[in-house]
Amino acid sequence: MCGIVGYVGADQALPLLVEGMERLEYRGYDSAGVAIIENGKIATARKAGRLDALIDEVERRDLPGTIGIGHTRWATHGGPTDENAHPHVDCSGTIALVHNGIIENHDVLRARLSREGHRFASATDTEVAAHLIESIIHERSCSLREAVLEAVDVLEGAFALVCISSDEPDRIVVARQEPPIIVGAADGIGLVASDIPALLKHTRDVIPLDNRQVAEVLRGAVTVFDFEGNEVEPPVVHVEWDMEAAEKGGYEDFMLKEIFEQPEVVRNTLRGRVDLGGRVRLDEVHWDDETLQGITKVVVVACGTSFHAGMAAKHSIEHYTRIPVELDLASEFRYRDPVLDETCLVIGIAQSGETADTLAAIRYAKEMGASVVAITNVVGSSITRDADAVLFTHAGPEIGVAATKTFLAQLVALNLFALYLGQQRLSMEPQKVAETLAAMEALPDQVEEVLLLEDEVRRAAKRYADARDFIFIGRGVGTAVALEGALKLKEISYIHAEGYPAGELKHGAIALLEPGVPVVAVMTGAKLYDKMLANVEEVRARGAEVILVAPRGDERARALADQLLEVPSTKPLLSPILDTIPLQLLAYFITKEKGLPPDKPRNLAKSVTVE
Ligand code: AGP
Repeated sequence: MCGIVGYVGADQALPLLVEGMERLEYRGYDSAGVAIIENGKIATARKAGRLDALIDEVERRDLPGTIGIGHTRWATHGGPTDENAHPHVDCSGTIALVHNGIIENHDVLRARLSREGHRFASATDTEVAAHLIESIIHERSCSLREAVLEAVDVLEGAFALVCISSDEPDRIVVARQEPPIIVGAADGIGLVASDIPALLKHTRDVIPLDNRQVAEVLRGAVTVFDFEGNEVEPPVVHVEWDMEAAEKGGYEDFMLKEIFEQPEVVRNTLRGRVDLGGRVRLDEVHWDDETLQGITKVVVVACGTSFHAGMAAKHSIEHYTRIPVELDLASEFRYRDPVLDETCLVIGIAQSGETADTLAAIRYAKEMGASVVAITNVVGSSITRDADAVLFTHAGPEIGVAATKTFLAQLVALNLFALYLGQQRLSMEPQKVAETLAAMEALPDQVEEVLLLEDEVRRAAKRYADARDFIFIGRGVGTAVALEGALKLKEISYIHAEGYPAGELKHGAIALLEPGVPVVAVMTGAKLYDKMLANVEEVRARGAEVILVAPRGDERARALADQLLEVPSTKPLLSPILDTIPLQLLAYFITKEKGLPPDKPRNLAKSVTVE
């Protein structure tokens, strides 16, 4: 999510760190900072906003030194402020560190370390790691590497940690549990980065750390250990990519990269929100149970893809809580004189957190006395200031204009929220909550399985790229998937595409069917399966081409499909999280077949800040 750079060598570190951070700017960030050691002291500079703000700051100050670390932050815990920007330091200012990922047990550690007398200067999860390492060094009189090796056993969650200590000014210590981090060494220098573009100027031979490894990076040398402290021989990878390919992680486009990031995105959005007892834990939502019990109606407002996430969420919320849910396009909501009072809960969904219509809708809802929860991917965005509570999706910055990974993250967050309401209002048996959460925890691996369809979808895209029209159909939550599949296709390939509830087809849109028209059918939830099969028969009878997204191994689906895209099974209400992926890939590959740019479709903007 965030960008990391580290340098130890003979040259001044600052310009090299800034240059490396500039190379990572494409990822998106909301603050930046550096820490450099000189004369046995660590100096830091941290600024909210663009890298230019940090550059202005370091130009004003003198930050000499030949070892340092830098970070571009995409906020997850604590808003995008100077204080929350990395690097973070311990109480004595001896250790500085930067971090990518989410430390799940930060609250427990913060409480423990505060009791021991540590003083915290930020609202981040990251800062606990600096104080934890300080306390270990203090207790054991050990080296930075030994302290990091001990700290990684205490820290829960995902972290790429990069640390320096003014007591050991010749080395950078790096630890990886999940988020990628790369180290390298070349003529008298040692390097660290979260992404290859930040290293390419210095070396093409890099060591991507494996999960659960620690590295000590010195001038011209790198030593790697496993979390048990045993030295290991890491493979060195030679990078052939040019800078542009490196920014896209070797993918042709950001959209494809973002589609392939989805297993991690689902994992991150679940992280820290499921406790060991099989309950949902949403620390961000602090309404008391009485308020939650008093909710009489939920209203979901959103636009575009976020609206489709809301459409799927309506099913989950109603099923788990028995509270009626209204779904509104944010652009229509306040003009229809909606019935709202203080017993209503309004959910505003916006990946950007800046969509003008959604902001206006939730402000209106607040004026009418309703409580508002926002689901967004951007910490510090406008929607977070207007809502009473915010549930963040942890998708990381999305650069492709077409929403992909943020949609999956919204579906996960909304399902968690629906379960949370059911759990707190006691409308769900604890056993059912636990079972559903277990199914959710299996999703990241299942998303990975769905991504294996890449080649099949690529072939389908070749076959249908010249179609003039596409129809997408589904039932229940599958309708939301169908609408999203159609939106993805039309916004990037410019092919006319309609998303339809399958049962509604015969009331009008079936007139569009003729031999050769591709119809994508999303075959979800067991209860609607037979009805979907019947609808697909209707489609086939008109000579249309049938592309089925269906549960793996179903012979009836196989018999009906011209093109079958099989996905693993999950609980019906979770199925959009898997079923959407082949449709994202289909839109992407058709767009490539047509020679169009998927990342930058015409007429569209990533944030729609006008009404
Ligand atoms: C999605 O691919 C579109 N670019 C668009 O429909 C988008 O979902 C819509 O503008 C809403 O954006 P938001 O989630 O930032 O509010």
